[in-house]
Amino acid sequence: MNTMLQKANVYVEKNALNRKELKWYPSYHSAAPVGWINDPNGMCCFDGKYHLFYQYHPYGVTWGPMHWGHVTSTDMVNWKDEAVALAPDMEYDKNGCFSGSAIAHDGKMYLLYTGHVDLKQEKPEDKDRIETQCLAVSEDGINFEKIEKNPVMTLENIDYAFGGHFRDPKVWKHEDMFYTIVGSQKDEVTGQVLLFSSKDMVNWQPVGVMASGEGNQGFMWECPNFAEVDGKDVMVFSPQGVNPEGRRFLNKHQSGFFVGKLNYETGKYEHGKFDMLDYGSDFYAPQIMNTPDGRVVMIGWLDMWDRDYPEQEEGWAGMMTIPRELHIKGDKVVSTPVKEMEILRNEHIEVSSVEVKAEKQFAGMTGTAFELVLEADMANADEFSIKLETLANEEAVLSYDKKIGVLTMDCSNCGTTPKNKREVEIALTDNKLKLDIFVDKSSVEAFINDGERVMSARVYPMKPFNVVFESDGTTVLNNADFYTLNSIY
Ligand code: FRU
Repeated sequence: MNTMLQKANVYVEKNALNRKELKWYPSYHSAAPVGWINDPNGMCCFDGKYHLFYQYHPYGVTWGPMHWGHVTSTDMVNWKDEAVALAPDMEYDKNGCFSGSAIAHDGKMYLLYTGHVDLKQEKPEDKDRIETQCLAVSEDGINFEKIEKNPVMTLENIDYAFGGHFRDPKVWKHEDMFYTIVGSQKDEVTGQVLLFSSKDMVNWQPVGVMASGEGNQGFMWECPNFAEVDGKDVMVFSPQGVNPEGRRFLNKHQSGFFVGKLNYETGKYEHGKFDMLDYGSDFYAPQIMNTPDGRVVMIGWLDMWDRDYPEQEEGWAGMMTIPRELHIKGDKVVSTPVKEMEILRNEHIEVSSVEVKAEKQFAGMTGTAFELVLEADMANADEFSIKLETLANEEAVLSYDKKIGVLTMDCSNCGTTPKNKREVEIALTDNKLKLDIFVDKSSVEAFINDGERVMSARVYPMKPFNVVFESDGTTVLNNADFYTLNSIY
């Protein structure tokens, strides 16, 4: 093991937090043993296990020189910490092993990641960065060797990319070729994604621009990902600098998708409109992977850049979303929790055909880690809310306003939670609102109407939540299932 990597692993082992004792540390989401994390990286299946890597700065609770942290799982629910996989120890990645992806091939696992060199640190007057794509290979899925020939992709001889932003490669195989897309800029105000092809993952040929922005679609497209979902080619990406439009694009940066068709001969990608993958305040840089049983599964960073991270006082910052299965419905990508999440269900409180007029609570619907699945009939109500309230006078509220067809997640009065309120338009069929809500210590993820829309947010209550239902007319809870969820730690 090289020294920087060794140092990181020794540090993590020595300083690993006692996760169960921390107020806001998730009990069933993947997060780091100590320190800062951001993007998920390198999601793949190798040797009978799911592998998930992440952007990692073990030595502090803020972003710093990026390593790759690593967890594995046999069910996408129980995650086991593995050794830190990559450290920024080469000339070409000396300021960070930035985001990237993984692929299993010929019994080995290949990580394709961005080597980041920050030129401003040495010569502030120079252009700001050099980013190249680099390969690391593993036989056992735990120990990785960076190859001699790194970097394997550079912007040299590419005249259709602007500036030095060139990062976050996503590799996949199509027929007998490997393809990679990399995030880049077309000019100062337009993001784009570049396509490369290769027979061996070492020698790459630029194919061209696979997609680029039009109008209000941001200046830099980070973390492009790509997979076939229900017969359509889906590109997921995270544009920086999209301006707010009404209820949409209110976060600092966005994550969304195109649905379309890639022509592998020409490298052109015909696609529909840009839409968001998650309408909550905290979701970024998602990655997608194909599972051996044919699903496409996405995990995102359940956070957002440049806000307060109250968990820093506990010695950690950042967590992953739960894994979400993607499907196409009409022209949209919908996402639902992977079915494996049911493994965690423990105590069950079930109510059915109950009228909610004004406020209603059910004994036992309280806790810090739970799932609430419900169907509400709003035929005789204009508004229906689920309030997550605490004894410390905090609340996170989900409410549906039928008159305008909008669901709101309001976290503006929830203790130390950075104040935010997000809304999403969603129509009801037969007046029925369906919700699958996951709460885990400092997060809420709400899947609305079978994942047609999703809202995720970090919340930082001082006390456990009590579930309170409220309706302005009469809402009938056709069914509401509350499950406490077991801890994976
Ligand atoms: C996205 C991102 C990536 C980059 C990584 C650095 O959140 O900015 O573009 O590779 O984070 O940590």
